[in-house]
Amino acid sequence: MLGKFGLRLAIWVFCTCVRVSVAEFDVVGALTEKGINVKGYSLSALDVGSNCAFACDSLSLLFHNSTISHSGSAYNSFESQYWSQQQGEVKPYCVFRPRSAEEVSIALLLSRLAQCPFAVKSGGHVPFAGASNVQGGVTFDMSALNSISLSENKSVASIGPGNTWFDVYSALEQEELTVIGGRVAAIGVGGLTLGGGISFFSGLHGWACDNVVNFEVVIADGTILDVNESTYPDLYWALRGGGNNFGIVTRFDLETYHQELMWGGDQFYLMAHNQSAIEAFIEFGYNSTLDPNAALIVSFVYAQAQRQYLMVCSFEYAAPIENPPIFSTFLSIPNVEDTTMIQNLSNITLEFNAFNPSGLRQTFWTATYKLNGTLASFIVQTYVDETRPLENVTGIVPACVLQVITANEIAHMMKSGGNALGLEPSDAPLMLLELGFTWEDVSDDDAILKAASNIVQKSVAQAKAWDLDFDYLYMNYASQFQDVIPSYGKRNSKRLASIAKKYDPQEVFQKLQPGYFKLHGAPASTAPQYFKNPSKSYDLNQ
Ligand SMILES: Cc1cc2nc3c(=O)[nH]c(=O)nc-3n(C[C@H](O)[C@H](O)[C@H](O)COP(=O)(O)OP(=O)(O)OC[C@H]3O[C@@H](n4cnc5c(N)ncnc54)[C@H](O)[C@@H]3O)c2cc1C
Ligand SMILES: *[C@@H]1O[C@H](CO)[C@@H](O)[C@H](O)[C@H]1NC(C)=O
Ligand SMILES: *[C@@H]1O[C@H](CO)[C@@H](O)[C@H](O)[C@H]1NC(C)=O
Ligand SMILES: *[C@@H]1O[C@H](CO)[C@@H](O)[C@H](O)[C@H]1NC(C)=O
Ligand SMILES: *[C@@H]1O[C@H](CO)[C@@H](O)[C@H](O)[C@H]1NC(C)=O
Ligand SMILES: *[C@@H]1O[C@H](CO)[C@@H](O)[C@H](O)[C@H]1NC(C)=O
Ligand SMILES: *[C@@H]1O[C@H](CO)[C@@H](O)[C@H](O)[C@H]1NC(C)=O
Ligand SMILES: *[C@@H]1O[C@H](CO)[C@@H](O)[C@H](O)[C@H]1NC(C)=O
Ligand SMILES: *[C@@H]1O[C@H](CO)[C@@H](O)[C@H](O)[C@H]1NC(C)=O
Ligand SMILES: *[C@@H]1O[C@H](CO)[C@@H](O)[C@H](O)[C@H]1NC(C)=O
Repeated sequence: MLGKFGLRLAIWVFCTCVRVSVAEFDVVGALTEKGINVKGYSLSALDVGSNCAFACDSLSLLFHNSTISHSGSAYNSFESQYWSQQQGEVKPYCVFRPRSAEEVSIALLLSRLAQCPFAVKSGGHVPFAGASNVQGGVTFDMSALNSISLSENKSVASIGPGNTWFDVYSALEQEELTVIGGRVAAIGVGGLTLGGGISFFSGLHGWACDNVVNFEVVIADGTILDVNESTYPDLYWALRGGGNNFGIVTRFDLETYHQELMWGGDQFYLMAHNQSAIEAFIEFGYNSTLDPNAALIVSFVYAQAQRQYLMVCSFEYAAPIENPPIFSTFLSIPNVEDTTMIQNLSNITLEFNAFNPSGLRQTFWTATYKLNGTLASFIVQTYVDETRPLENVTGIVPACVLQVITANEIAHMMKSGGNALGLEPSDAPLMLLELGFTWEDVSDDDAILKAASNIVQKSVAQAKAWDLDFDYLYMNYASQFQDVIPSYGKRNSKRLASIAKKYDPQEVFQKLQPGYFKLHGAPASTAPQYFKNPSKSYDLNQ
């Protein structure tokens, strides 16, 4: 079918870089097999822009309607689809919107041929620049890969990475089914699942990555693989938490679960009750084994309009039962607002989406600790001390979010050969911190990043002093300065490196796709002086 495109690529092509990359892998040959003739062109070493001009012009010739060049309204509209301003400011040379795994494969090979850097965007919700967009390179926009289909007996839902979780849930609700995914409507299926994925139903079934029965993946040589426990168990393990280091996933086959209405929403409390809420949070952390239907998120936030800090607790329960007893301690704290009700999952994700508007400046930071109330109070106090001086920053919404990684969740992570995150049942319960700060002006970036960095560093130092520290960094909440993969432990880091070596010997996903959490280091090559990366690093070649 692609044969008709052959020869057409003849026109440009000047890039010696190819010779380097074909030394061990014949990119030209791989493209020829797909009916794309790029033989016989001499290639001189050009700068990235020129190489990417070749890649983009080729894509445009082959797939005119799916390629957006670097200016114009389609380009601007694409850029506006990133959640954070920082990502929307990155300017790719072109955007390519594949319609099939085969098109992903061809575009990947052309990027390799040209040595043009690329990035992959699913829901575009990573805050920092370059995570799913690439300066001067080719950004793969997965939005056209948006199919949602059920297997014959409905036990598996096949989901394209172009979907948001709202799309997925609202489609499956018609069948009284659900899958394990994000809690906010507009988050993408791709990034959330590859980094872990905490769901309202994780107490029942584990994280999103634990419920993928099969990944359709384009690996570095352009081959399209069905990766599951019986075909490629090593790569299957690596994709459950390993992020974008192994391939481009073109379909997630997710286990389905019966789901009808549920109970959930938010309750808002005054900070005067912080001690009661923290005690209730710790109690939930231990009691959660008793009732896997329950999920909890405890957030502290500064409300600039009211000039005060508030607490927001999100409660969810997988069955349509109001005020279930597991939350009784919280429910006895007087609240100032309550949105909990019996409703469907998709509607709850819309409620949460409304708290997270797009187009603003954003940063995420994370840390994990052993569950302990004294430490939780310390974290909250440190958060208030560090953010109080920023109270007048334009548009600031600084959130300090605590969750429990429960014993039930970790138990479910052991299924199908386990995932790559390095969490063991004996580690539970753990306390997970997410700092999510929103603001408007670039001029405030430094002050905000420094405050977030201080909260992480001071709380981790205190946790160490109290013997409550825990290395794990959750990829989906980490900042660009945090080195996530080593936090999975030495054994898992090395295993990930050796799997990458097997499926991507020339490190295409490490070098040509520079954004996000790589096997060898944090996304930002240099951290600001105030941030000393506390995580370990290992020599992965030994
Ligand atoms: C408002 C908000 C709510 C959130 N809620 C939750 C939540 O409930 N639970 C939770 O666990 N996390 C949550 N997160 C964190 C979220 O999981 C991460 O931000 C996640 O990376 C977003 O995925 P995405 O596809 O939208 O992002 P993207 O920026 O599109 O992708 C993230 C990374 O994954 C890579 N990637 C994406 N798709 C593919 C693919 N198909 N193949 C290979 N690589 C790919 C990208 O290249 C990029 O590096 C939330 C984040 C936000 C901003
Ligand atoms: C490309 O788009 C044009 C109009 O926008 C349409 O007529 C044409 O059929 C499309 N081609 C393909 C291959 O989809
Ligand atoms: C659904 O079909 C698959 C094979 O296609 C099978 O493995 C599985 O057990 C079936 N599940 C149910 C609930 O029947
Ligand atoms: C889920 O709830 C929303 C809001 O009430 C409603 O519009 C939608 O139809 C519901 N979905 C199903 C499948 O009932
Ligand atoms: C695993 O992949 C093989 C090969 O494509 C496929 O036949 C099998 O159905 C897959 N298993 C699952 C659980 O999807
Ligand atoms: C938490 O509550 C205590 C009283 O129980 C109060 O002294 C303290 O200031 C509160 N902390 C914050 C950060 O508001
Ligand atoms: C938590 O568990 C303890 C011990 O089983 C019990 O006494 C307590 O009532 C439980 N709390 C809640 C809120 O369920
Ligand atoms: C759906 O959620 C919204 C909040 O986003 C709420 O206002 C509305 O009442 C809910 N609808 C139903 C039918 O539950
Ligand atoms: C913020 O503005 C208010 C009102 O002008 C002022 O009282 C307060 O001191 C300011 N806070 C900081 C940290 O500058
Ligand atoms: C929490 O940690 C503090 C500080 O180390 C310790 O004093 C306290 O006993 C711990 N709490 C529990 C319930 O273990």
